[in-house]
Amino acid sequence: MITKQKGTYDIYGDNAKKRQYVNEILATLCEKYNYTYIETPVFESSELFHRGVGEATDMVQKETYDFKDRGDRNLTLRPEGTAGVVRLFIENKLYGNMSEPVKVFYNEKMYRYERPQTGRNREFTQWGFECFGSNDVLSDAECISLAYNAYKLLGLENITIKLNSLGDNESRLKYKEELVNYFKPHINELCEDCKNRLEKNPLRILDCKVDGDSEIIKNAPKTIDYLNKESSERFAKLQELLDLMDINYEIDTMLVRGLDYYNHTVFEVVLDNSYALGGGGRYNGLVETLGGPSIPAVGFAMGYDRTILAMEENNINIPINDSIDVYLLYVSESEKETAAYLAQDLRLNGYIVENDLLNRSLKAQFKSVDRYNSKYLIILNDEKLTNNEITIKDNKTKEEETIDINNLIDYLNMHM
Ligand code: HAM
Repeated sequence: MITKQKGTYDIYGDNAKKRQYVNEILATLCEKYNYTYIETPVFESSELFHRGVGEATDMVQKETYDFKDRGDRNLTLRPEGTAGVVRLFIENKLYGNMSEPVKVFYNEKMYRYERPQTGRNREFTQWGFECFGSNDVLSDAECISLAYNAYKLLGLENITIKLNSLGDNESRLKYKEELVNYFKPHINELCEDCKNRLEKNPLRILDCKVDGDSEIIKNAPKTIDYLNKESSERFAKLQELLDLMDINYEIDTMLVRGLDYYNHTVFEVVLDNSYALGGGGRYNGLVETLGGPSIPAVGFAMGYDRTILAMEENNINIPINDSIDVYLLYVSESEKETAAYLAQDLRLNGYIVENDLLNRSLKAQFKSVDRYNSKYLIILNDEKLTNNEITIKDNKTKEEETIDINNLIDYLNMHM
């Protein structure tokens, strides 16, 4: 037997229904914020992620699925959504008319070569959204509010937004310098990865999984102490807005995020201080880094699978429709045609309909009515059909009526 690859999963049955339900909630919420749906390709040129996410990030160094196609092109399965969306934004010149911000959302599979464990897979889904064209702190607040409300709507009441600011480029550079000066004398106490990070990406030392709990890291300089006046005022304003919007957040000065493109706002969504259910922030330089004009942007991505897992762990009831509206039974072969056109008519009128596709006996068809948990059953019988009549039965009350076939839709509209 050929089995699925490590870190991937099949989605079917109730699980698939749950995801459809979650998709609908998220898409409807995006509509409220006036975000429009987009899709980007699963694979892109490797350069996009190397330049976009950052050459020195763990993601690019260790986690991307890179391959050459038959035309010798260097390609990568997307490890995250933002770089691809930025490419789409630039390539399709969505910046042509920036009199209004461009707001888009996606719900797509991502690929990272990580060690699979609960909530961490090699193929996983992110629901994410990006807003281009506003540098106003109100758009940071809107972004956090959309993320926050999504979890709330899904029933995850106890979430917290962990929030930090990396400041503008000036503040970030100053902070980086300060970090390097701080860590240098401790270099031998750091893990091998962090020794490399010190040169290439010192901010990443702060959320190292190996060194994370050490005193050296706990006592490291904090981003917010190095924000210049403008960045610091901006961060204060953001907090004011979040307070007004009644969003539950907590400042986390150790939060730096794993991707290189952020400045100013960074945030993650956590539940009971476990792993991040989602993360995002502002990335004002990325459009330009990837060859577009200088356009500010802010966005977020939800770890979709982790979120569903958290809903299950918190016993959040996800409504799953496990019933149908009508089961059409036919007594003999000759009533099949009526079944066919009635099913067509009912489905076009919005009813969920089943009929026997296996040429089974009437007795076997009755069993299906219960298996499908059908609300109504309709018995098609030539004797009655000659008078345009059908028998319809409420499967719960067991009440049965004979009605004119032409009145069926009206009958169901009235009774359901
Ligand atoms: P990220 O923090 O790398 O951000 O990923 C966002 C979320 O995806 C994580 O918080 C986590 O819930 C989920 N996730 C990440 N890796 C895995 C995995 N291996 N298995 C399951 N879930 C995972 C980004 O990707 C940014 N593009 C977010 C963003 C959008 N920033 C601005 N706009």
